[in-house]
Amino acid sequence: MDSKAIRQSFLDFFIKKDHKEVRSSSVVPTDDPTLLFTNAGMNQFKPIFLGDVEPQNLRVVNSQKCIRVSGKHNDLEEVGLDGFHHTFFEMLGNWSFGDYYKDEAIKWAWQLFTEIWGLDKDRLWVTVYSDDTEAFKLWPAVTNIDSGRVLKFGAKENFWEMGRTGPCGPCSEIHYFIGDNLSSQKPEGINNSNQYWELWNLVFIQYYRDSNGFLKELPKKHIDTGAGLERIVSALQNKISNYETDLFSPLITKIEEVTGKTFAHDPVPHQVIADHLRMLTISIADGVMPSNEGRGYVLRRILRRASRFGRMLDYHEPFIYQLVDVMADIMGDVYTEINEKKTHVKKVIKAEESAFNETLDRGLKHFEKVVGSLKGKSIPGKDAFRLYDTYGFPLDLTQLMARERGLSVDVKGFDNEMNIQKKRAKSSGKFNDTDSEIQWQIISKENDSEFIGYDNYTSSSHIRRWARSGENVLLVLNTTPFYGESGGQVGDTGTIAGKNIDVVVIDVIKQGDRIIHICEGSFDEKNVSGKVECKIDSKRRAKIKRNHTATHLMHAALKQVLGDHVHQAGSLVHPDYLRFDVTHFEKITEKNLQKIETIVNQEIVANTLLEINQESYEKARKN
Ligand code: SER
Repeated sequence: MDSKAIRQSFLDFFIKKDHKEVRSSSVVPTDDPTLLFTNAGMNQFKPIFLGDVEPQNLRVVNSQKCIRVSGKHNDLEEVGLDGFHHTFFEMLGNWSFGDYYKDEAIKWAWQLFTEIWGLDKDRLWVTVYSDDTEAFKLWPAVTNIDSGRVLKFGAKENFWEMGRTGPCGPCSEIHYFIGDNLSSQKPEGINNSNQYWELWNLVFIQYYRDSNGFLKELPKKHIDTGAGLERIVSALQNKISNYETDLFSPLITKIEEVTGKTFAHDPVPHQVIADHLRMLTISIADGVMPSNEGRGYVLRRILRRASRFGRMLDYHEPFIYQLVDVMADIMGDVYTEINEKKTHVKKVIKAEESAFNETLDRGLKHFEKVVGSLKGKSIPGKDAFRLYDTYGFPLDLTQLMARERGLSVDVKGFDNEMNIQKKRAKSSGKFNDTDSEIQWQIISKENDSEFIGYDNYTSSSHIRRWARSGENVLLVLNTTPFYGESGGQVGDTGTIAGKNIDVVVIDVIKQGDRIIHICEGSFDEKNVSGKVECKIDSKRRAKIKRNHTATHLMHAALKQVLGDHVHQAGSLVHPDYLRFDVTHFEKITEKNLQKIETIVNQEIVANTLLEINQESYEKARKN
């Protein structure tokens, strides 16, 4: 079976068991400030696990684009050195949102592995969390696994957490022995030797880890499973490395062709370049651009590492961008954005490669000079900083090169030199925990927050829950004309009044499906009656609407002038101004800016009647 057939057979297996297939979400997480990149299939379902959103389907299956280069799940150090860790990988997953639980999850995983895919059960091992006696007993009860192959492990291996905070729970993993000699298998090898690959993780989500580190029971119990497609393909194609499967081999062949250096001679550079190219293509196609901060800097670091491995193949010209077409051939049909954005991705990578190419050789020379005159085993912070500042070497690249020589880097010294830049980066990134600690007072439990504000500027509504947050009162209503900040559009302002309540709404935000009104004014919390009259500031909304429409005009004009690759990377729609972030690989020329402005102005003057429709994502994309 090739990788396409394997991916599809996973989806089909669960579709037959009443799961709804959902598309992979972007690698840029939506509305989750705790994550830099999507790192697991369950990310897009977090609000469901937390009980903030009602699921549309209780059973779901998908193949999710994941990136693990930062935060709790970071595989970067391993990448290229072995055959099965990646910066980007595809995670196959099935979910139950308060529906089936451990029994079915275990039974079906085993059935797919052993009956459908024919993996040898004498190569499979299973681990469970040491306290989870239920799963420990279930495995031999609902499958034909030999009970000696079910092992208990502690929290490090078998308690899965999304990040420092978030949904979590005990998990059970299926491991696969890849060695030749079946009788050499030992329980000690699991989670210890690279002869045993973790193929599938079944997580029994039942807790939420809060920012103080405490576990709280979630309202319902859920199943969240994740299986790395690359490893599964490797196991099913009888390969000992993912790089030998059809997900990677065309990339490796192309690298051999371009550089003239064979994979067999030294696989590491080929592996790193192929891995990094996949991560770069996927993230750029999802709208990330290399930059000096946050997510964009992760891309820049990855690209510079790849370029440096290109030098190890003695190749001195930008070439990584040439691999994008190969990547599109491998998976452009599954993740169609790769095909759609191919030209743009190539241009961005080429521009980045060329820029770094100018300083890379000089930087490498400088590194050799530093190492040559080094007393001791640690590269001083100021040298690492010089490499960073003058030659564009990210710290982790210097560390990687140091490690190759058995050296380390004085990171503290580097940090001292970096202080100023770091401050700036910090102030622009929002990666801290949010306000999951709000103590909501629930008045009625029905579904919240139906937004009726496309057609109504006023409403008679009911308070569903309220909370205090400092000086402010937070309100959630059954229906609301107030738009909650999202998609770059600021929230509405206005008033909410009723018996024992007379407040001004100063901002409105969205948390999952919940629309939260942040209010100031008088609120008698001892006598909350529930019924309120809402009114948004309609003049302000009209201004916001105009600026919203202007972003669409601008987007169309940008595409017309710069090309179809131009993609909205973000925007801010405010009553008095708008900002539109666009992905383009070079500075937009003055001439083109003027053209864009003229087109937008012409459209405004033409005053075409606006037609507003609400459609499904798929249909809207087609139009
Ligand atoms: N969330 C779990 C993981 O990432 C299972 O999907 O391993």
